Order: sequence, then C-alpha cells, then structure tokens
Amino acid sequence: MLDLIELAGLTSKKAKEELSLLNDQTGLDAFYAKYLSKKGEIRMLLSHMKEVVAEKKKEAGEAVNKAMGEVSAAYEQKRAKLETEKLAKRLEEEKIDITLPGRKLTTGRINPYYQIIDEVTDIFLEMGYEVVEGRDVETDHFNFELLNVPKDHPSRDMQDTFYISDELLLRTQTSAAQAHTMCERSANPRPIRMICPGKAYRRDDDDMTHSHQFAQIEGLVVDKNISIANLKATLELFVKKMFGEKREIRLRSSYFPFTEPSVEVDVSCFKCGGKGCATCKDTGWIEILGAGMVNPKVLQSCGYDPKQWSGFAFGVGVERVAMLRYGVDDIRRFYTNDTRFLKDYSGK
Ligand code: PHE
Repeated sequence: MLDLIELAGLTSKKAKEELSLLNDQTGLDAFYAKYLSKKGEIRMLLSHMKEVVAEKKKEAGEAVNKAMGEVSAAYEQKRAKLETEKLAKRLEEEKIDITLPGRKLTTGRINPYYQIIDEVTDIFLEMGYEVVEGRDVETDHFNFELLNVPKDHPSRDMQDTFYISDELLLRTQTSAAQAHTMCERSANPRPIRMICPGKAYRRDDDDMTHSHQFAQIEGLVVDKNISIANLKATLELFVKKMFGEKREIRLRSSYFPFTEPSVEVDVSCFKCGGKGCATCKDTGWIEILGAGMVNPKVLQSCGYDPKQWSGFAFGVGVERVAMLRYGVDDIRRFYTNDTRFLKDYSGK
C-alpha cells in the first residue's frame, strides 16, 4: 500500500535538492509550477488521502502539510536571495561616481596631407584604378634608366637625391612605380590603370615650398588606343571632383623624359575663379601636376610593345594640392606635428 507519509517526506527532500541548484527566476517559476501550484506535486499528494487507512489519515495529513510548509519556506527564502543578488548586481552596474570630473573627449583629426591622399585615392578608385604600393628605396634602374633617364641625362641634376650606393637611392619620384608595374606584368601584358601614392625625396634646400621629403601620387594607364584625349578627360574629371564642378583645366606643353608629349596641367584658380588673385599670382591658373603620354621608349624598356600599347601618366604633388586647398603657407607645417596646425587646417 502506498505510504503517503514516506512519499511526502521524499517529495519534500527532492524538491529542496532541486531548489538548491536553481539560480535564476525562470528556474524558480518552473519550480513553483512543478511543486507548489494547485496541480503541483505536493498538493497532488492530497488526492491520495482517500487510499490511506483511517487511523493513519491524521498523520498522513500532517506529513503533507509539513512538506508543503518546508518547500514553501525554502522557495520563499530562495526567491528573496535571488532578488537581493539581482538588486546588488544592478546597483553595482549602474553606479555613478559623481565625485569624478567628466571625461573630456578629444577627437583626433587627420593630417591634411593624408586627407588629400585619401581623397585623390577615392576619386581614382571610383574610376576603376588599382592602388599600387611602391618602395622608398629604389634602384637607379627603376628610378631613372627605365624611365628614359640614362646616367648622363641632364634632368638628373634637378632630382639630386640621397644615394645609398651608386645603384641604390631614395626615389626621386613615384614614377618608379610605373616602371615596376609594367615590368611585373610584361610577361603577360594586359591593360593597366593604377595610382601609386607615396613619398619621394630630393636633396632640396628646405624652404616654404620645398622639402627634402614630399609626397606624390603617380597615375598610369596603359591600354590599346589610349590618346591624349583620354588623359585630358581623366584629369578634367579628377580636377572637378577634387576642386569643384566649376574648375577648368589647361594643358601647357612641357618636358619629361618618360612622357612624349609632356604637359603641365593648370587648374583655374579656385580662390578667384580665374579672375586673378594672390593665390594664382594674378594669372587665373594654378599649376598642379605634370603628365603626358607614356614615351614609347619607356613602354619598350618595360616590356610593353609600343606598336600595340599606348598610355598616359601623371604625377600630382600632394602637399601642393593640400597647400592650395587649405591655404597653408609653409610646406614644413605638414611634418612638424603641431596640433594647433591640425586643428586649423583639417576638414574642408
Ligand atoms: N615624375 C614627375 C615629377 O616628379 C611627374 C610626372 C609623373 C610627370 C608622370 C609626368 C608623368 O616631376
């Protein structure tokens, strides 16, 4: 026969053990439903009363009540404990120390030099160019020879630089990256559209507009049937995106050993709109870059057959653009890390 007294004791013991393992509200709710609710295991014990013999009924009733009391008390205790812990945790997390002074947030700014590089890069990426990384230490071969500047060429004088050995030097122009790109692909010549932002070095005396180290962004396009019209259209689009829709460009003939024909590119003055002012020295135009059609000799030396391929190249001076755009008076400010300068000139 069912021993209700023993069953009540066992149920109480089982419930208390289960309860001791719980540590969250969901578990506690489930526990309540399982043991203490109307249909819970403890109340359900009462439904067995009718099977208990008359003389044991009193004792059995007491046993069930005792189980109910014990489990209820344990449940209440656990509930209160969880509640206190929860509150303590919240108080800890939401603690505000009003005795501390507020934290001052200083937002950094991008040096205008890098900002120009980013902007120019974005414009050319949109036009489908890839970004090529060049190297600061170059060989004479890539910096000069492949670019149609043999050892005795007078244009070397203008680019006197820092030599590491007779054949190794700090590059004088990012144009070396053109030669690398073409040579790397010459085994399987295919169209090129690339830019290479980076540093260049020349042994200039540093003054307001010259620095022994400066940045350029080189551009190179090689494909079938590229003409000077493509060069002009590309630079026009670049200038309008960089300096505004109203800007015009003007090509003046020039000379670079690695381009033929070569041009200097002027942009209509963004200060006065072309009327003439101090920024454009009253000419209405500002020179911003050098460019030209890739000299067939360069294509040939770099492994692209000039009978099949043609191209154009250009080189933009980063600091020059930044100085004009932000009205910076001295190129050396870009490198001296004076935060007052950054505050003044960052942002459009
Ligand atoms: N490398 C030239 C310079 O440093 C600029 C340039 C690049 C000119 C590409 C034409 C084509 O002055």
